Amino acid sequence: TESISRRMTVFGTGYLGATHAACMAELGHEVLGVDVDPSKLAMLEAGEVPFYEPGLEEVLRRNIAAGRLRFTSSYEEAAEFADIHFLGVGTPQKKGEFAADMRFVDSVVDSLAPLLTRPAVIFGKSTVPVGTAERLGVRARELSPAGQDVEVAWNPEFLREGFAVKDTLHPDRLVLGVDRNRPGRAESVAREVYGKILDEGTPFVVTDLATSELVKASANAFLATKISFINAISEVCEASGADVTVLADAIGHDERIGRKFLNAGIGFGGGCLPKDIRAFMARAGELGADQALTFLREVDNINMRRRTRMVELAREACGSLLGARVAVLGAAFKPDSDDVRDSPALNVAGQIQLQGAAVSVYDPKAMGNSRSLFPTLTYSANTEEACAGADVVLILTEWAEFRKLLPSDLDDIVRKKVVIDGRNCLEPAIWRDAGWTYRGLGRP
Ligand code: UGA
Repeated sequence: TESISRRMTVFGTGYLGATHAACMAELGHEVLGVDVDPSKLAMLEAGEVPFYEPGLEEVLRRNIAAGRLRFTSSYEEAAEFADIHFLGVGTPQKKGEFAADMRFVDSVVDSLAPLLTRPAVIFGKSTVPVGTAERLGVRARELSPAGQDVEVAWNPEFLREGFAVKDTLHPDRLVLGVDRNRPGRAESVAREVYGKILDEGTPFVVTDLATSELVKASANAFLATKISFINAISEVCEASGADVTVLADAIGHDERIGRKFLNAGIGFGGGCLPKDIRAFMARAGELGADQALTFLREVDNINMRRRTRMVELAREACGSLLGARVAVLGAAFKPDSDDVRDSPALNVAGQIQLQGAAVSVYDPKAMGNSRSLFPTLTYSANTEEACAGADVVLILTEWAEFRKLLPSDLDDIVRKKVVIDGRNCLEPAIWRDAGWTYRGLGRP
């Protein structure tokens, strides 16, 4: 197919929206990013990414310079600019509930639709409860002067933080949900927009709206389940003296199982997996299918238990946490990210501090975000400073620089030679041979 340059907008400039906007421009399209937050827009216009995402800044700058990428807060400008609109705003967890908070998604449609005077296609990318796309389609057509010529399709996003550019430009698959009751242009538009990606042989699954929404929810539920599975096994390993890392390698050789996402440790966090499994359960409940997903509650419980276990190990190492000095290496929910939303690392650090320890935290990229979320923790400028005088060193996010740590880096600065590896990312023998007490999760 011939790749065609199209004009499009992207609503939302968070991880998803900013990455999508920059990557669509990279494919040769003319893109207008839209957000209501003027400070984010100012940064993006200046070629700065408001969060840490390897490689994204280059793509952003290159495409701004080429004149293919701009940003605005004006919905009028957006409606005028293009007839293809991507929706990439957040769907966080509602306070005190499992369900997703749909206010950002709804407000984009409510504000944009009345301005659509020409036929338009809105592609939703956010993770939403099944049924949302259909509901938004009805709403958009009701509110828009273009009426029946407004189409809502769903095009879920599977990018991982830390690999966002690669995952967007070279995805494992593209999924598109279209309204089967209203044949429209969404599929042909998507084929043009993603022409270059499809030319690489990327699988393209075109389906109905509900299936496309459920594909995304199921994918994240499966990933969360895989992590909690190995973490549950790691509890049994702890009780029996077995090693979960060897076990994961061994079962992972079976291609039906696969080794990926079988890293036991303090579990999953971030802005997606935890809230997505809860929203999925809530939605299934609304649909009368709650029994189908009760296992996800156990997935959630196993995940939270690992955090508690980490705190217990720290307490055991110190005798009592009251008055202990605890060094925490890692605050981001995973390496190569500055995201601390529902971060297991910060949660553990906070729990330990609540039990009376002095906690000093170092993370290569997430210091600013950690400070805003947990202002009462002590933050250190580097590993040495965090570990100076520590009774125990905790590795809570497996950044490359922590994986590379050697006992000799810390020997002279810690008070007690105890390391607890919450991500099973160190080589136990190296530490033990150097006279350290090493503890991992699910490892003898
Ligand atoms: C996740 C999915 O992997 C993406 O496919 C999806 O698009 C995204 O959510 C989303 O819905 O937006 P992400 O949250 O960036 O991506 O991070 P993951 O790489 O999935 O890691 C999630 C958490 O699981 C991290 O806290 C990580 O430390 C933990 N994890 C991961 C483990 O504890 N063990 C593993 O083996 C793998």
